[in-house]
Amino acid sequence: MSKVHVMDHPLIQHKITYIRRKETGSKDFRNMVGEIAALMCYEATRDLKLKDVEIETPMGKMVGKELSGKKLAIVPILRAGLGMVDGMLNMIPAAKVGHIGLYRDPETLKPVEYYCKLPADSSEREVFVVDPMLATGGSSVAAIQMLKDKGVTNIRFMCVIAAPEGVALMQKEHPDVDIYIGALDEKLNDHAYIVPGLGDAGDRIFGTK
Ligand code: URA
Repeated sequence: MSKVHVMDHPLIQHKITYIRRKETGSKDFRNMVGEIAALMCYEATRDLKLKDVEIETPMGKMVGKELSGKKLAIVPILRAGLGMVDGMLNMIPAAKVGHIGLYRDPETLKPVEYYCKLPADSSEREVFVVDPMLATGGSSVAAIQMLKDKGVTNIRFMCVIAAPEGVALMQKEHPDVDIYIGALDEKLNDHAYIVPGLGDAGDRIFGTK
């Protein structure tokens, strides 16, 4: 079963409360989502593997630590996931970035892929799929399936706010994928919005409505 990590860092909690407020405008919302993503990335990379390396400082030789595991990639789910990319790149600048776009077919209500561009060596990377809101879980489950179909085996999922329904679906469909959550909310409403949530993350990041 996948691990679910709900962040308890005070800075993350404080910033999430700020973006939840309905009076927070797009500029602050966008900047703050970036800051939250950076802090979450810091927490979600705690277990990356290190190796010893011999280096020389201006004062002499020493054995330092260097990342030794798989290279990293960030895959935002379009469009709201884009809001988390720069913050994550601030923490892991060598990561490559892929993109997945999905829309919901109005008849079948199933997610359909309309865009997928991944780094060529994605299957050799540790991939962080990011989307600020894990609501029903439909898009994230589909996006992760797309990655698996393309040979990606090491996947983590990161979101700012999650509903229990989305977490349950992710755990059922992708028990191998660890989930990093900024705040776990109460439920979904009848329109599949997270309550209390923060509204439409994409609209609030990009100032659309
Ligand atoms: N997507 C959002 O942007 N907000 C929600 O509450 C649910 C899905």
